[in-house]
Amino acid sequence: MEFQYRLPVRLARVRARFGLFLWDLANKYLKTVETSRLQRGFDETFRRQAESPTWRAVCGQVFDSYLGQLSFATVAQIHLLAEKLHVNPQSNVLDLACGTGGLGLYLAELTGCHINGVDMSPFAIKSANKRARSSGLADRARFEVGILPDLSYEDCSFDAVMSIDSVYCIPDRASLFRGCYRVLRPSGYLGIYTLYQRRNLLLENPMHRRAFLWFPSQPYSNLIQRAGFKGLWKIDLTEDLIQLAKRWVDAIKENRGSLEKEMGAARAGDQTVAWSLATEGYIGRALFKTQRPAKAHTSQAKEEKVHLQIPMKAQ
Ligand SMILES: C[S@@+](CC[C@H](N)C(=O)[O-])C[C@H]1O[C@@H](n2cnc3c(N)ncnc32)[C@H](O)[C@@H]1O
Repeated sequence: MEFQYRLPVRLARVRARFGLFLWDLANKYLKTVETSRLQRGFDETFRRQAESPTWRAVCGQVFDSYLGQLSFATVAQIHLLAEKLHVNPQSNVLDLACGTGGLGLYLAELTGCHINGVDMSPFAIKSANKRARSSGLADRARFEVGILPDLSYEDCSFDAVMSIDSVYCIPDRASLFRGCYRVLRPSGYLGIYTLYQRRNLLLENPMHRRAFLWFPSQPYSNLIQRAGFKGLWKIDLTEDLIQLAKRWVDAIKENRGSLEKEMGAARAGDQTVAWSLATEGYIGRALFKTQRPAKAHTSQAKEEKVHLQIPMKAQ
């Protein structure tokens, strides 16, 4: 009787374990497939950008100074980051998802710091190392291919970690922030430039749905705190986002024909979604800063609002 009762229970347990195992396997497989799809996509985007004279001309029109960035970051914002993360010639800085490395190298030149960059795109990393050599910064700059959230660096090896318009590409942000905490020395800073939701997006609207998939409704504060960081400072840069995105929209409208020919329609870099949603107040962009505590101490939260003027290009 007892045997008859136990057998189905055991069988059910074995089935449940097998089910979980298959679920786990399917998840890992889907994650690997998605990561390689994203990696091929970014690699191709960087390659086409490098080969497109129109893309370079458009970027020259949009940015006061174009450093190869694939983001909304301006040179003025690298100055702001250097100041807020206290970067100095002794600092060892890590740039997460660094792209072609131009912004990190600008920071190295500006402050005298050492810069390390990691990105999933082999093409971008090759360009970053080439850029480091040609700007005479190769002894202070190291760029390597890596898939975040994995971080192959030693504990406490950085004074500052930065991420520019890339956190929303990383699927497991909880692991990413735990990794950042681990590789930062005590009292080291994490600085994140990111788009985020300011008002609830409307899921019935296709433009909002696209943004919803990318931008978090609460800008990572819980995940950052759970990773062990203390304090979260926000510097709002939404006005700058609106101005820059508008320049993109205009520059791309003017050059759409050649851009689509050189880059393909999907890679022509339309920023209409970002511009409209930011203008209507649904999304914003900010620099979030937090710190690994020297030792355990009480939590602190501050918010300050800064409007950075994007310097106009010299005529
Ligand atoms: C919008 S671009 C920003 C690049 C750079 N931070 C900049 O400001 O120019 C996003 C970057 O994230 C990288 N990326 C996306 N997912 C990644 C991952 N899981 N691991 C490493 N890099 C990743 C892409 O290759 C791309 O360079």
